[in-house]
Amino acid sequence: MQLALLLLLLVGTCRANDFFGDLKDWFDKITAPKEYCNREWITLDSKGVGKGLEADLGRNLFGQHIASEVIVNAVTGFMNNDNPKKPLVLSFHGTAGTGKTLASQLIVKNLYKKGMDSHFVHFFNSVINFPHASQVETYKSQLQLWIRGNVTNCAHSMFIFDEMDKMHPGIIDSIKPFMDYQYKLDGVSYQKAIFIFLSNAGGKIITQTTLVSWKAGKKREELKLEDVETALSSSVFNYHGESYVVDFFIPFLPLERQHIVQCIMVEMVAMGLQSEHNKACEMADKIVIYIPDDERRISVSGCKRIASRLKNFM
Ligand SMILES: Nc1ncnc2c1ncn2[C@@H]1O[C@H](COP(=O)(O)OP(=O)(O)OP(=O)(O)O)[C@@H](O)[C@H]1O
Ligand SMILES: [Mg+2]
Repeated sequence: MQLALLLLLLVGTCRANDFFGDLKDWFDKITAPKEYCNREWITLDSKGVGKGLEADLGRNLFGQHIASEVIVNAVTGFMNNDNPKKPLVLSFHGTAGTGKTLASQLIVKNLYKKGMDSHFVHFFNSVINFPHASQVETYKSQLQLWIRGNVTNCAHSMFIFDEMDKMHPGIIDSIKPFMDYQYKLDGVSYQKAIFIFLSNAGGKIITQTTLVSWKAGKKREELKLEDVETALSSSVFNYHGESYVVDFFIPFLPLERQHIVQCIMVEMVAMGLQSEHNKACEMADKIVIYIPDDERRISVSGCKRIASRLKNFM
């Protein structure tokens, strides 16, 4: 009787769905098996990761043939090496909504069984986590302690830094030593860790290079890393001067209408609608702005906020 009353009270005060949802989350949490820093929880076999990652990028990351190839080669090459001389440091560059965050999530998914919920994956956003210039010294020491503690706990830790172009140079400087060539720093070896930087730096120059190549009659898929690399290097290699610790600068090309159509079809399925190609094409013209004005070739904000735009439109 008392139990029934208590339940009634609870259901009355919370929305039933929320309550049972929270209860389930809590139950899942306490019953979930503990995650260990071993092969059971982390895929350390480079072939396995390579195959899965290649397939996932091929299926889900549209229009990024350069980024996909470099990522697969970089990650598998690193994992193939039993004794890497330094941690793997990748730097993703491109304008908004081109798939940088998505690509980093696909890497995580293929390495860690628990994906983004893994305790070995650490995500930072400069604007959210390090917002105040006056607190830089505190952020520096906290971040250093965090990285050191977590790599001590698991050598195969991953650290992702979003909005890297908005990160205070002092904070970048403070984490550089972890990414450098050194056997051990303060008794801890960082050589098996992975660092990924995400930023919009260099986005404009990548867009320009893509447009120039298109105007010269080249197919998008003919564009090679070398074509973009030179332009990218002049604009980002030295931003904040961290270039020497970065192993791969990875360009994300601006997305075209055909990719927006693909993103819209994905969202349609997610919304429980039928993904009709014709309808998606119609939407792609209505909900997205393209540049340059006369040719309308490239989406200004990539596939960002497609879901909400689609909802608004419908
Ligand atoms: N190349 C792509 N292929 C498939 N989906 C994409 C692609 N680019 C973006 N998206 C989708 O668009 C949304 C935004 O993408 P994402 O967050 O990865 O962009 P971003 O490059 O990190 O942008 P920002 O620079 O603003 O952080 C996500 O829902 C993502 O799935
Ligand atoms: Mg992002």
